Amino acid sequence: MDFKNQVVLITGASSGIGRRLAIDLAARGATVVGCGRSRERLQETEQEMKRHSASSTVHVCDVSDPQQVKAMVEKVLAQFGRIDILINNAGFGFYKTLADSPLESIEAVLRTNFLGAVYSIKEALPFMIARRSGHIVNIASGAGKIGTPSMAAYCASKFAMIGLSESLYHELRPLGIHVSVISPGPVRTKMQLLFDQLAAGVWTPEFLILKTEEVSRAVIKAIEKKRFETVIPFWLAVVCRVKALCPALFRFVSYHALRLRQAQSTRKDM
Ligand SMILES: NC(=O)c1ccc[n+]([C@@H]2O[C@H](COP(=O)([O-])OP(=O)(O)OC[C@H]3O[C@@H](n4cnc5c(N)ncnc54)[C@H](OP(=O)(O)O)[C@@H]3O)[C@@H](O)[C@H]2O)c1
Repeated sequence: MDFKNQVVLITGASSGIGRRLAIDLAARGATVVGCGRSRERLQETEQEMKRHSASSTVHVCDVSDPQQVKAMVEKVLAQFGRIDILINNAGFGFYKTLADSPLESIEAVLRTNFLGAVYSIKEALPFMIARRSGHIVNIASGAGKIGTPSMAAYCASKFAMIGLSESLYHELRPLGIHVSVISPGPVRTKMQLLFDQLAAGVWTPEFLILKTEEVSRAVIKAIEKKRFETVIPFWLAVVCRVKALCPALFRFVSYHALRLRQAQSTRKDM
């Protein structure tokens, strides 16, 4: 697919998956607008993007604030006249049981990961509908397919993202607008490092962790093929299929596997 003349808005482009995607899409000729809260890190992304696509740019924006999202989308439309592809990628999580999680932290995760995407879609959608074209890509997670302990708020935000995507698919397809949802397993980024430290040994072994390049490739492929759902890597797609086919058995096995791993890591620490 030719990304030249395509205007792509990516939230959370100041690091990790979003930064990789921004640079890869700029390298394919797209005009990319990346957003995030850290001006400094966004400038690093911008420098890389501009090496391939001079028109690409960045905006400081906190997606959990609907007013900031509105102002950003207005700026993008004023500058480029349209948004062809919106990638809702901004997100974060924390590792704590629900009982130990302050309400403010739970609300903050949902406000950024889920409502942030809703705010961006609500702002960009009228213009996509008017042009009867566009593509919305939501970055969910394996945690949006399988609930895991100590990640309830994060899982809830990602399950919500998948439900949102499925509803939007039906609402928008007749209007010529495509929807894709990508659920990666663990990816080597700042966020993954944080989960690793907090989970203290019960987290994923290194060889199962994806590189940002692999996720970026999968997202670009989903856009090119107009594919609704992508789960990567392959082992996670298989696990999700098993869960869908035999949910009770899956819950039984995963409950005992998780308890075993927790017990092993406690023994290692002693
Ligand atoms: N890493 C994984 O294992 C993994 C697996 C599956 C899915 N994901 C999802 O992939 C997405 C990207 O995460 P990542 O792994 O690349 O983590 P990351 O390196 O920490 O990047 C997160 C990005 O989101 C931005 N962000 C966070 N809160 C924001 C806010 N309120 N407003 C605007 N931007 C905000 C951050 O920018 P600022 O800090 O500058 O605001 C940063 O650019 C997330 O949605 C995450 O849930 C990650």
